[in-house]
Amino acid sequence: MSKGLFITFEGGEGSGKTTVCKYIYHRLLEEGIDAIYSREPGGVDIAEQIRNVILSVKNTAMDVRTEALLYAASRRQHLVEVILPALNAGKVVICDRFIDSSLAYQGHARDIGIDEVMEINRFAIDNCMPDLTLFFDVDVETGLRRITGRGEKLDRLDRENLAFHHKVHEGYMMVCERYPERIKIIDASQSVEKVEKDAYKLVIERIRKNV
Ligand code: TMP
Repeated sequence: MSKGLFITFEGGEGSGKTTVCKYIYHRLLEEGIDAIYSREPGGVDIAEQIRNVILSVKNTAMDVRTEALLYAASRRQHLVEVILPALNAGKVVICDRFIDSSLAYQGHARDIGIDEVMEINRFAIDNCMPDLTLFFDVDVETGLRRITGRGEKLDRLDRENLAFHHKVHEGYMMVCERYPERIKIIDASQSVEKVEKDAYKLVIERIRKNV
C-alpha cells in the first residue's frame, strides 16, 4: 500500500461503535494489515489531558465555543502525533470519533452551526479528512439505555438531557447528507455480531480499493 487509509467510526452514546472499532482493528491485524487504533478526544497525552478538562462533570460553566475549540485543539495534537505519521507510513488508521463528532455535537446539538465548527476544524486538521466513515445508527433511547445499564460513571456530555441527544442524532443525519460518498450508515440496532460483520465488509472493501 503506497498511502495509508484513514477510517473513522461515529455515533451517539451507546451506539456500540467502540466495541466494533476494536473488533475491526484486531481483525485487520489478524489479516496481516498494518493498522493502528486510536480515539478522540484523546489518543495522546496532551489530547487526553484536554479530554479530561472537556468531560469533567465539574466543568458545568464551560462555554459551548470553548468546548468546540478544545475538541479541535485535542484533534490537532492527535493528528500531528498519531494520525499523520501513521498515514505517511502507509498504515490503516482506525479512529473512534473524529471531525463529524464535532459537527454533530458542537455544530448542531450545541447550536454553534455546522459550517462554523467546520471552519475551526479546517484550521486544526489542514485538509486531512477521513477516507471512510462508518456512522452507527441507533435510536437515542436505546443508546442511552445501553450506557446507563453499563454501570460506568457518566461524563459531562453523557449527562446532557434527552433533547440534546436527539439533536446529536439529527446533527449526524445532516452530516451524513453532506458527505454521502464518505459516510456509510450502519444499522447499529442489530446484534453485535451482525454490526461487526457489516462494518468489516465496508472497511475491507475500502482497503482493497486502496491497494
Ligand atoms: P466517547 O464517549 O466516545 O469517548 O466521547 C466522549 C464524548 O465527547 C462523547 O459524548 C462525544 C463527545 N464529543 C464531542 O462532543 N465532540 C467531538 O468532537 C468528539 C470527538 C467527542
